[in-house]
Formats: sequence, structure tokens, C-alpha cells
Amino acid sequence: MRKVQHPHTEVIDMSRNDDPQFWQQARRHLVRYGGSFEPLIIERAQGSFVYDADGREILDFTSGQMSAVLGHSHPDIAAVVTEHIHSLDHLFSGMLSRPVVALAAQIARHAPPGLERCLLLSTGAESNEAALRMAKLVTGGHEVVGFTQSWHGMTGGAAAATYSAGRKGYGPAAVGSMAIPAPNAYRPRFTQHGELDWRRELDDGFEQVDRQSTGSLAAFIAEPILSSGGILDLPPGYMAALKQKCVERGMLLILDEAQTGVGRTGLMFACERDGVAPDILTLSKTLGAGLPLAAMVTTAAIEEEAHARGFLFYTTHVSDPLPAAVGLKVLEVVERDGLVERARVAGARLEQGLRRLQSRHECIGDVRGRGLLLGLEVVKDRDSKEPAFALGESITRECMKLGLSMNIVKLPSMGGVFRVAPPLTVSDSEIDLGLQLLDKAIETAVDIHPG
Ligand SMILES: Cc1ncc(COP(=O)(O)O)c(C=O)c1O
Repeated sequence: MRKVQHPHTEVIDMSRNDDPQFWQQARRHLVRYGGSFEPLIIERAQGSFVYDADGREILDFTSGQMSAVLGHSHPDIAAVVTEHIHSLDHLFSGMLSRPVVALAAQIARHAPPGLERCLLLSTGAESNEAALRMAKLVTGGHEVVGFTQSWHGMTGGAAAATYSAGRKGYGPAAVGSMAIPAPNAYRPRFTQHGELDWRRELDDGFEQVDRQSTGSLAAFIAEPILSSGGILDLPPGYMAALKQKCVERGMLLILDEAQTGVGRTGLMFACERDGVAPDILTLSKTLGAGLPLAAMVTTAAIEEEAHARGFLFYTTHVSDPLPAAVGLKVLEVVERDGLVERARVAGARLEQGLRRLQSRHECIGDVRGRGLLLGLEVVKDRDSKEPAFALGESITRECMKLGLSMNIVKLPSMGGVFRVAPPLTVSDSEIDLGLQLLDKAIETAVDIHPG
């Protein structure tokens, strides 16, 4: 806040976030790319917090864009960026450097068995684009199946496989794009004895795929926990069954661990729980801990076949040394500081806290997720499970007023779902603070939107 002397009036407090020139320029020169901007100017980000223009601290419960697993401005990352910007930054795409080969080897060491060849890129969409191109090339097919609640990115192939948002108004998606519903235990489509019957749902989904397919299936692309789809955790056994469906049809299974990879769920990769190795694994967001780095990882056999068929994915930033050095450091810090285990322990504390809030607030219909990737679904009442979008938005606003950054996804036929995903470095006291602020925010929002 700064004191402003208005002519003919007393001195008043004005927030530095209200800087008129900043907002005029933003309005004039920025393309609006989705939703609205927070009415804040963020000046600094450190650890689990970001700081606005008034120096107010805001607890970041979304790890930026679900990416900053080490918190913001981690000293080890700052050091590695500083070192490489001075000595080894960007190269001709046909040149190799030590950080690139070392990161590929480290990813292969951590990845599920058999996944040992990496392509290092910049964004999640790009990694999925590469995975889809490789799957098409080696299978000779072109049809790609995903989930109706998926998000795989904003570029051509990735967007064609993204169904949770953004399909309308952009013309035809790639020919051969298909989707089946992801299982949702809170709102099951198929039940047996009152429980989700995911096997029947999966069989039904593939029956629809088989009817639509022209016999040219290339891949199924899936997130182990659909994040933008409302934190839908594929139930134990589902992924193995999905893989089997792929094997039966000669299609590849691509797992997109943009959000679930690198420790977030309490395992290095979420698919470890299921003991299922995909044919292609894609990593992004968490691999660079917030800096642009992505990877596509596959088996030697698939890579050999793709290479023999002339696989091309030549980009400006492929195999860039600086982001590779960052990725190497991220994996080193995650391992050195035991952050995979920490995500499990801190996630259990956070989940317990959210369940306590659920017992106090009728509007919390469901708490779900794994490790430090949790979901909180807001409904009008627990019996009808009717979505409560306005209440969810109001809770988000109240959280921000109190200094807690939360993100809600709104999907048809679901209540608003908060995605709660603080950095893996979050402390117990920061978790407790977040829970306390959320509790207060819900109380206030419910007063504004009773019923
Ligand atoms: C699961 C998943 N895959 C891919 C992407 C796309 O990543 P990017 O925005 O880096 O292209 C996202 C982004 O939200 C995502 O959540």
C-alpha cells in the first residue's frame, strides 16, 4: 500500500496492485488466452509463496501452473541457470552436450522398466505431439483415443486429444480422434452394488471405439490422474486393463505424466502404483519444476522402429543444454531431499486436513487424489451432488483475499473441483496455514451463497 494525496481530500491508502498504467498497457497489448487475470501484480515468488505489489504474501497451493515442485526460485535451480546461461545455453539442434545425455540417462534410470530412450523438448503439448507422431509412424495407424475429460495441450495433435476444454470454434480436430469417458468414482456411470464398475465402463468405451474405428488405431493417450478433468484417479487395475485393450488392438499406450510425474503423487511416476509401463511416457511441467522442459520417453524397440521409418521431430529447442541441466538438478534435488516420500507424507497431512474441512462444510462433496495432487469437489448438497460453480468461484476469491492461491476447474456434469497441489517442498506449517485459510474462505463464501 502507498499513501496517495488526492487534491481537496485527505490522504488515502492505495494498493500498488491498482497501478493504472500497468493495467492500461496489459489491456492494450496482451492477448487474453483463457479466463481472467488475477487483479494483482506479482513482483516476486519464493518457496511456497508469491508476493504482490503491496508485498502481501500469497500461499501458492497450485505450484504455479501445477509445475513448481521445488517451490519458487529454489537456490539450486537458480545456481544451475546462472551457471549455464554463462557457459552453455542453446545449440544447433544437431549438436549434443553433456547435460542432455546425462538427463536422458537419469530419466531412464527412474522410469518404469524398458523406457530408456528420451527426446528432450520444451512443453507438455510438444512432448505429446512427439509421442503421437511416433505412435502413428510405428503402428502405421492414425486413430488416437483419449478420455473425454482429458487435457494434453494446445497444439494440433495434443489439442485433438484434449476434450476437457477448447474444442468448439477451431474447426475439425485430427481425423481419427475419439474419446471414452474416464472413470469417476464420485459420479459413476456404471455401478455394481452401488460402487463404480470401471471394467464395464472400459469395455463399453472400447466397444464404442471399435465401432467407430476404421481399423487404423495408433494410440491411447491418458493421464494417470486426470487433472484438468477434475482430479480423476484411474482406479487400481484400470491402467493394466487399458494397456491390455491397447495390446489387443495393436495400439500404443501413451501416459502423460505432465502433472503426476517427478514425485507429486508420492511415487516417482504415478504409473508405478499400477506396475504398468506405457509404450511412451511424456513428462513436462514438473520435470523443469516450472521452467520449460519436457521429455518423451520410450523403449529401445519403438525408437529403433521409428528411426528406421525416418522419425522427424526437429525443433528449435530440442536437446537444449540449459533446460536439460535444470532437469538434471530437479531430479538430483528430488532424490537428495527425499521429496517423493515427502509428497506422500505431506499429502497425507493435507488430505486429512481436507477431510476435516469436509466434515465441517456440507458443500465439500468429495476429497480425492494421491500424494500432493488432491481434488476437492464443491456441490450444492451432498445428496443431489448438484454442481455449485458460483460458490466455488466465491471460495476462490475469498481464498485470494486471505492470501491463498487456489485453482478451480469447472466441467459439465461435475461440481467445481479445486486442484490442491502445493510444491513438494511445502512445510507442515504451510499446509496447516493453507487449510486454515481455506476453512475461513469457505465459511465466508457460504454466507454469501447460502444454499
Ligand atoms: C496432463 C497435461 N498434459 C499436457 C499439458 C500441456 O502442457 P503445456 O501447457 O506445457 O503444453 C498439460 C497442461 O496443463 C497437462 O495438464
